[in-house]
Amino acid sequence: MSVADVRLADDAQDNRGHNSVDYRHISVTPIAGACGAEIGGIDLNTLDAETVEEVRRAFLAHKVIFVRDQTLTPETHKAFGRHFGTLNIHPQYVHLDGDEEILPIVKEPTDQHNIGGVWHSDVTFLERPALGSMLYGIEVPAVGGDTMFADQQAAYDALSDGMKEMLDGLMALHSDRTLSDPAEVARRNATRSTKITAEATGKPPIENLHPVVRTHPDTGRKGLFVNKAFTLRFDGMTEEESKPLLEFLYAHAVRPEFTCRFRWTPGSLAFWDNRCLMHYALNDYPGERRYMHRVTVDGDRPV
Ligand code: SIN
Repeated sequence: MSVADVRLADDAQDNRGHNSVDYRHISVTPIAGACGAEIGGIDLNTLDAETVEEVRRAFLAHKVIFVRDQTLTPETHKAFGRHFGTLNIHPQYVHLDGDEEILPIVKEPTDQHNIGGVWHSDVTFLERPALGSMLYGIEVPAVGGDTMFADQQAAYDALSDGMKEMLDGLMALHSDRTLSDPAEVARRNATRSTKITAEATGKPPIENLHPVVRTHPDTGRKGLFVNKAFTLRFDGMTEEESKPLLEFLYAHAVRPEFTCRFRWTPGSLAFWDNRCLMHYALNDYPGERRYMHRVTVDGDRPV
């Protein structure tokens, strides 16, 4: 199936409940063929139940939504998150002082590296990985520091029937070992301002098996669910044996036509669906500061 076909399938799905005529409280403007839409006409601090429902529909239809010109405090940011589920406390990264449900994502002008600079879906090593993440831009570079997203359902749809059949029954092991191994932690903490805590360092890794092809619990669509940051190997195979097929999937999963790219302005919020997207934070703004707050909504066990 081509991406155009996938888009047509999406439109057909929209006509069954996500049509733009159904949006009475918000405007929804897609930004790319595969995924992503800008939402207008709302203040996230004052949402009524009907507007939240429309935001939920837009989120499911477009997989990542962007809202500009917001003024969120940690409290109102979390309140928006709670419309979609309970909030995650990140097991490794230092949280906001006095507020463990807010993860500050910061790159100082002198930092060499950012976090999220590899295609991934958030915290997939957990038994119940995140439903979604809400990233709020407080200080952003004049240019650069965009975030990219890749639609894993479009990537799955574009595979051959033979490959789909082979992947459908496979499980893969996801691990946080790069965020808990003391040598890795020391290397990461040396060049990044978003630090891994001393308590997380040296702990036994958190590891869980998940299906390689995941069915979205709300839309029923199948999508790839492996990522370079956290997937170690296929269940029942060694890392060496798994590598060639994983490398193929990682390259296929981020083909340009499956992606969209968001250019940040201060006060923007991106809310992405970790169950069907991967994302990538660009590190192309040396000497500038980027400061964001992330709220992460808990998800369910992938099937
Ligand atoms: C992340 O992976 O959550 C960070 C994304 C970003 O900073 O753009």
